[in-house]
Amino acid sequence: MARRKKIYEGKAKILYEGPEPGTIVQYFKDDATAFNAQKKDVIDGKGVLNNRLSEYFMTGLNQIGVPTHFIRRLNMREQLVRACEIIPLEVVVRNYAAGSLSKRLGIEEGQQLPRPIVEYYFKDDKLGDPMVTEEHIAAFGWASQQDMDDILSLALRVNDFLSGLMLGVGIRLIDFKIEIGRIYDGDFQRLVVADEISPDSCRLWDISSGRKLDKDVFRRDLGNLTDAYSEVARRLGVMPNEPTQMTKPKLIN
Ligand SMILES: Nc1ncnc2c1ncn2[C@@H]1O[C@H](COP(=O)(O)OP(=O)(O)OP(=O)(O)O)[C@@H](O)[C@H]1O
Ligand SMILES: [Mg+2]
Repeated sequence: MARRKKIYEGKAKILYEGPEPGTIVQYFKDDATAFNAQKKDVIDGKGVLNNRLSEYFMTGLNQIGVPTHFIRRLNMREQLVRACEIIPLEVVVRNYAAGSLSKRLGIEEGQQLPRPIVEYYFKDDKLGDPMVTEEHIAAFGWASQQDMDDILSLALRVNDFLSGLMLGVGIRLIDFKIEIGRIYDGDFQRLVVADEISPDSCRLWDISSGRKLDKDVFRRDLGNLTDAYSEVARRLGVMPNEPTQMTKPKLIN
């Protein structure tokens, strides 16, 4: 088989040209990074879990009419998605205080917010993804007012869907980040949820124990990351019978 063309290699995924025009293959790596890649490690099985979990969330969103880039999963580590022009924003929705919001505003982690708060960060690793307002977004032309209305409504619908899903399995959705892509259909453009939705991009706390089941386990050295992600997958009924720890093939002489 001819080697596929690599389009981009990021911190957590590799993008390859897809089999049909307008499609991309997302390959989920085991690499974990935090603090703008200052902390790095390889976590066995993380890519497999995130591929499955992102498939699960994106499929559910598609089913309730929230458009996403997801087409289908190809194998353990790869999924086929619609190629998008990514809007250079990280869209964050927060239900409970945590992370940078707690630091910035001096609100204790875990405190419920009066209502979901949506924040925008400019996607630029060199600048450390600085927070921006709708003023910056409009002035620099990253998104139109119509786009911003659509982005807000997508973000809140994803929040309602994910919060409910998690609540059903005893997990609190503290916050999450999504990326939004533009897809052109002839003269029309529409916005879809792109990139990934996984415990890498959400904060998930077990409701009864407060145990963290997301990337903070890695950021803050709280234990085994694969165990935490497996627990989320197990509760949701994603890959219930499959081992997550793949044994490496042995050399036979
Ligand atoms: N449907 C899509 N079409 C085009 N690009 C996409 C799509 N979905 C995600 N991407 C982009 O693919 C890349 C995924 O790689 P990864 O998540 O490893 O990146 P990253 O290291 O987090 O870097 P970045 O800062 O660019 O997000 C991201 O840049 C993301 O914006
Ligand atoms: Mg990323």
